[in-house]
Amino acid sequence: MKPISGKQIVLGVCGGIAAYKSVELLRLFQKAGADVKVVMTENAQQFVGSMTFEAISGHPVFREMYGGNPDAQMRHIAWAEAADAVVIAPATANIIGKLANGIADDALTTLMLAVTAPKIICPSMNTHMYENRAVQRNLDVLEGDGYVIVDPGEGELACGSVGAGRLPEPEYIFDRVAGVFSPKDFKGKRVLVTAGPTREFIDPVRFVSNPSSGKMGYAVAKAAADRGADVTLVSGPTGLETPFGVRRVDVVSAAEMAEAVLARMNDADIIIKVAAVADYTPMEKANYKIKKTDGGISVSMERTVDILVELGRRKTHQILVGFAAETQDLKKNALEKLKRKNLDMIAGNLVNDSSSGFNSDTNKLNFFYKDGSMEELPEMDKEAAAHVMLDRITSRIIRR
Ligand code: CTP
Repeated sequence: MKPISGKQIVLGVCGGIAAYKSVELLRLFQKAGADVKVVMTENAQQFVGSMTFEAISGHPVFREMYGGNPDAQMRHIAWAEAADAVVIAPATANIIGKLANGIADDALTTLMLAVTAPKIICPSMNTHMYENRAVQRNLDVLEGDGYVIVDPGEGELACGSVGAGRLPEPEYIFDRVAGVFSPKDFKGKRVLVTAGPTREFIDPVRFVSNPSSGKMGYAVAKAAADRGADVTLVSGPTGLETPFGVRRVDVVSAAEMAEAVLARMNDADIIIKVAAVADYTPMEKANYKIKKTDGGISVSMERTVDILVELGRRKTHQILVGFAAETQDLKKNALEKLKRKNLDMIAGNLVNDSSSGFNSDTNKLNFFYKDGSMEELPEMDKEAAAHVMLDRITSRIIRR
């Protein structure tokens, strides 16, 4: 599912150093299949030429209400009515102030008054300007008026100061807009997702783990949150950002993951276990760094709790979805796990395939259901695969 495909997006660009990032954002929308039209403020044109946006968007850029092309005269209404969403990135303190007060004194502010579709605004400015009470008050007004505010990131700003005010990366803004378009079919559902690897420490500086990146689990959490679910993500160590709107609980070992998940299972309607949990943990964990000697070393390991088996045993009302990472005999192994762990559905993938598995951005999943049926998905990015998985949970499990 591509929530942005076929959508009409109006991209508003204001005068800020970050205006160059809007070009990348435009390209991302287009790559996802949207038709994008650009409106620029007068100051924006000091930073990026309108020709750039015109050439890439394939549409004239709307820059001034009067004096330009006569076709442009009703553009503020025509574009506003056709839009499925309007995104302003970067949004300056000036535009935020004007929109909060209903002022319409240029092309962008006039068009905004006529928009009834979702409005997404991405503030970007110097930290002190961003923290200024007037700007914060105006942002509160906009939020109350139904605008989606994409908070700026923190970091070094173009003006040399460090703090909040950076325009988030185009990929992040893109994801937030995609989230606005997602159906809200999981509203009211509480979803518990696990992701990433676990680490089983041998001593303070060494552990046994696996190459799971956490990307698939994070994609599932993000997709569920975008679709309106209340999502808790129990995550092993990963380098990934917490998806917007997701509550994250960090754990390290399989034992910690078991404790975190089992404590929360009764508050969940759907549990999706994507994590690559270690099956064994060292029997003894040294609390000092083990020194090397000339000979070899052997580490005795014992079994960890199989969290999914435990969930399957204790489940009352929860829908339980597992993953099966296999290197061979996918169907046989996945169906066996589905049955043994008392699951409603299992997603199997071959982790030794380059298009699928641990660190890849794409996955080639196979879904297996309780009635023995299966479905083979083509290779797709992990977020798209996550959405298909949620589609199937709705159509094949919840509606039954
Ligand atoms: N799982 C779990 N707790 C464990 C091991 C696995 O909850 N201690 C869950 C995983 O999160 C996944 C499913 O069980 O959803 C299957 O994991 P996988 O590693 O494919 O299988 P295992 O059950 O560990 O079996 P094997 O390693 O023998 O293939």
